[in-house]
Formats: sequence, C-alpha cells, structure tokens
Amino acid sequence: METNDTNGKPKTSKAIAKVQRPKPVARSLEICSVLNRTVAALVCANLIARITRLNSFGRLERFLDSNALIVDDPVLHLLISTYMHISTDGDIAAVPSPYASPLGEIITVAHTKGGAGKTTLTFNLAYSLAGCGARMLVIDLDQQTGQSAFIGEHEVGPQRDVGAVLLGQASLDDAVIVGVHPNVDVLPADELSIGAAGEQIDDLDVGGRFHDLFDEARTRWDIVLVDTAGYQSKLVSAALRRSNGVIVPMVPEAGPVTELPTILNTIRAAAESYQQPEVYGVIKLRIWGSSVYRRVAEEQIKTITDEYGVPLFRNKVPEDARFGEAHLVGLPVGAYQSGARSAVAYRHVAYELIQLRDWRFAVPDGL
Ligand SMILES: Nc1ncnc2c1ncn2[C@@H]1O[C@H](COP(=O)(O)OP(=O)(O)OP(=O)(O)O)[C@@H](O)[C@H]1O
Ligand SMILES: [Mg+2]
Repeated sequence: METNDTNGKPKTSKAIAKVQRPKPVARSLEICSVLNRTVAALVCANLIARITRLNSFGRLERFLDSNALIVDDPVLHLLISTYMHISTDGDIAAVPSPYASPLGEIITVAHTKGGAGKTTLTFNLAYSLAGCGARMLVIDLDQQTGQSAFIGEHEVGPQRDVGAVLLGQASLDDAVIVGVHPNVDVLPADELSIGAAGEQIDDLDVGGRFHDLFDEARTRWDIVLVDTAGYQSKLVSAALRRSNGVIVPMVPEAGPVTELPTILNTIRAAAESYQQPEVYGVIKLRIWGSSVYRRVAEEQIKTITDEYGVPLFRNKVPEDARFGEAHLVGLPVGAYQSGARSAVAYRHVAYELIQLRDWRFAVPDGL
C-alpha cells in the first residue's frame, strides 16, 4: 500500500515505519507532556482535595461551576477521586465563653483605602477569636457585601439583612445567620437594602435603629466585628462612634500608607466628640519578601502610629496563597487549612488582641 507525502511523492511502507518510529526529541516531548499532565493533575487534585476536605460538596460544586473546571481526563479523575478521601482540617470545635454574660465589645474594622484587607481581616479574626471561646457576631456594613463571600449556603435577601434591620423591616433575629462557624454568627448585607439604609442614616428612625442594633448586639455577643466600606461614608462614621474599638488593616505599600493618617484623623475626630472608639491596633497584612521598599513602608507605618499614639500589632499576617484559596471557597483560612502560615498568624493576632485588652478568652500558655 502506498500513500502520498506532503509533496505528493509516494511513500513506501518502510518510509512510513521510519516516520512513525518516535525520534528522541519526540519521545522526550511525549515524556514532558505526560509529566506536565501529571503535575497539572496533582496541582488540581491537591487544590480540589483541600476543598473537599471540608466535606462541603455544595461548595465544591459551586467552585467547579464558577471556575468552569472540566475534569474529562481519566488520570485526573483517578487522582481526584483518590485525593477526595483525605481527612479534613475542618472547623474548630466550639469553645465555651469564659463570660457568663456577654463581654459586649464592638470593634469596627476600618480603612479609607479600598482593598486594604478589611473584609478578610474581619472574618478571619472573628474565626480566630471564636476559637478562643469568644461568641462572635460579624456585621457587614459595606455595600459591596463582602461578608456574603463567607456565609456558605445561606441566602441573603433584601428582607433578611442589616439594611432591613435599619429600615425597620426585619428584626435582628430575622436577619442574623446563626452558626456560620462554631461561635460565629453573621449579620449580612444586601446591596440594595444597605444602600437605602446608608442614604437614610441621618433620619431619626434609621439612626435610632442603628443605635439599638449596636446596643442589642452588645448584650448578646462577646465581640462584634463590623466590616466597613473602603471610603468615607456616613455609615462608617456611625459605626465608629458607636464602637468601643477600631482595628486598622495596613498593607505596607505606598497607597495604604499615605492613607493611614486619613483614617486615623477620622477616628480621632469621632473619639473627640464621642469618647470612643479607641484604636485597638494597626495590623500589617500581606507581608512578603524583604525588599527595601517594604521595609521603608513598614518604617513609615511605625512613624505614623507613634505620631498618633496608637498601638501597632506585633504579629503580622504574611501574603499567602492558601489565604487566597480559602477566600475563593468562602472560608476563613483557619477552617481551610489550619496549618497555613496566614492561619497561624491570624491565631496569633487573636491571642495578642486578647492579651492587649486583658480579656479572659483562652490563649495558649507561654505566649
Ligand atoms: N494575607 C493575605 N494573603 C493573600 N491574600 C490576601 C491576604 N490578605 C488579604 N488578601 C487578599 O486581598 C484582597 C483584598 O482583601 P479584602 O477584600 O479583605 O479588602 P477590603 O479592604 O475589604 O476591600 P474593599 O475596600 O474593596 O472592601 C482579597 O482578595 C484577599 O483575599
Ligand atoms: Mg471589603
């Protein structure tokens, strides 16, 4: 049998056999592609294993849907199904609170710079404090509704959010999501409803309900962490003047550092008129490498915090890929992978805060 080559010349079967025999280059390419496929499979399987370790198949399905990850490779399938049986880090067990009646601390997380790490700090710190026995409520006061990334399967609707509570359309009990994690409840925000409430915050009724909400929360939870928008707004100001404390996240980069005095001035202005909040600390996030640039930024943060007489947390949170993965699947990094560098760091931030404030929550000995 004869076939034509690309130039139309007839090929003998000997020639065909010669063409088909893998050349060394072709063979190494083949090995490479097997290796690539295996590495890719391992990476994907590892990622998926981390997700499935959480025993949350609903989350996994949503993750696969939203990322259009199509697993049609048999090798990948085998690896994934093997990895899927790895045991889980899972959630912390609920630790009992040392306080018979709630501690009643309200702490707002604020920075006038967008993307400073407020939302993820709020949820991850809430989770770490909960691990020490604090009954936590997270309130989302940001129209971007960032906390909704962390509430799993729970639904947020315009009638079941913090905005509805402020507009008098729902009670706190109607809107709060109980037990998102052990000791962690969340009062989520619906974009439209919180937007409307924010516009009407000067209205006596809405302002009064804001006041009542914070007062009621104080009587029911040990610590309430309030997530805010990354710009000046009446809602942020209202939260600040009704909070005991404020925590300011800081990424040591030019933008957030330049903006640090702005948020510290806003807090100072609230404190002068309302005798609160106190700055409980500025915390450095997303630390990586040891470039001169980063060290200069850290020195600037130290100079500014000294100037304003506010504490700087000793513990900092490193930049961590595991943190991003946890955010992607809507979990605090401690629940996603408790040994991750950022999970360990967040636990230490919680211990430091507990010690700074002299609270009675459990911290490990010898810190
Ligand atoms: N330690 C970390 N390692 C890696 N990524 C991080 C870390 N901390 C925060 N991030 C990422 O930084 C991004 C911004 O964080 P976040 O949403 O908390 O900021 P924000 O201040 O709430 O923003 P906004 O002002 O828009 O509400 C997120 O994608 C988050 O996952
Ligand atoms: Mg946010």
